[in-house]
Amino acid sequence: MGRVIALISGKGGVGKTTITANLGIALAKRGLNVCLVDADIAMANLSLILNMQNSPITLHDVLLGEATVQDAIYDGPAGLKFMPSGLSLENYRRVDSERLQSIIESIRPLFDFVLLDCAAGIEKNVMEAVSASDEVLLIAMPTSPSIADVLKAKITAQRLGSKPIGILVNFVRAEKGEIKKDDIMKMLELPVLATVPYDDEVRRTTMQEKPEPLILSRPGSPAAVAIQKAAAKLAGLPANVEAPSGEGFLSGLLNRIASIFKGKPKGQENGSA
Ligand SMILES: Nc1ncnc2c1ncn2[C@@H]1O[C@H](COP(=O)(O)OP(=O)(O)O)[C@@H](O)[C@H]1O
Ligand SMILES: [Mg+2]
Repeated sequence: MGRVIALISGKGGVGKTTITANLGIALAKRGLNVCLVDADIAMANLSLILNMQNSPITLHDVLLGEATVQDAIYDGPAGLKFMPSGLSLENYRRVDSERLQSIIESIRPLFDFVLLDCAAGIEKNVMEAVSASDEVLLIAMPTSPSIADVLKAKITAQRLGSKPIGILVNFVRAEKGEIKKDDIMKMLELPVLATVPYDDEVRRTTMQEKPEPLILSRPGSPAAVAIQKAAAKLAGLPANVEAPSGEGFLSGLLNRIASIFKGKPKGQENGSA
């Protein structure tokens, strides 16, 4: 039976959608069966990050009873499956998230992980998604207001019977005034699964003409490395995050130097396998 994990936060803009996409791809790259569901049915944008915005049938149609679950599941990157939400406001107005739980229940047996990208806050659609989950992953920034919001989200999840399993601290800049990992753990009484640094590459990958998730386009960038480690922890796998090839001049050079010292055969200098 698959694990259904809702990614929630207090406010928007903390990186839930970015983390959902990249965590899902990282899990899929480790050979796990993953389905990402865009449960942010009002402000759906997971499909944009995955560059899969042209999916004709969506979770909206399934919630409306106008399509089957299978019709709304698509092949995504790295072998994962993806259930988008519709981008049209027109459809959203007619949608009721009440049937989300039964939809998620029906796909659970097919996957190792079902990740639900949730809306911000604790409004009805978020509550439905959390109720459909077994576990929640809290996404926070290292600031007091964000941690306070996340505490409310944690309590809400517990009341709905979903287990908070940890915090992923995003946008970490290691600046003065940021709340430290240990203090966040103490305040929320939960483990920090990963601290993900602020990384310009995240925005760059979404702004390029053909968006490609960070884990695929820049697997060696600091945020991608942190997310891959979080995925390994989540799945209980060793965190053997590979040094990727083609990471620009400097790391390519470093790889070559390393291969000279390690005496790898010619032709495998950049090999990450
Ligand atoms: N670690 C990071 N470093 C830099 N930018 C980030 C990082 N995480 C997310 N972002 C950017 O922040 C914005 C909000 O992220 P998003 O995932 O949409 O948040 P949410 O889903 O919580 O609203 C996006 O433009 C995204 O590219
Ligand atoms: Mg989002």
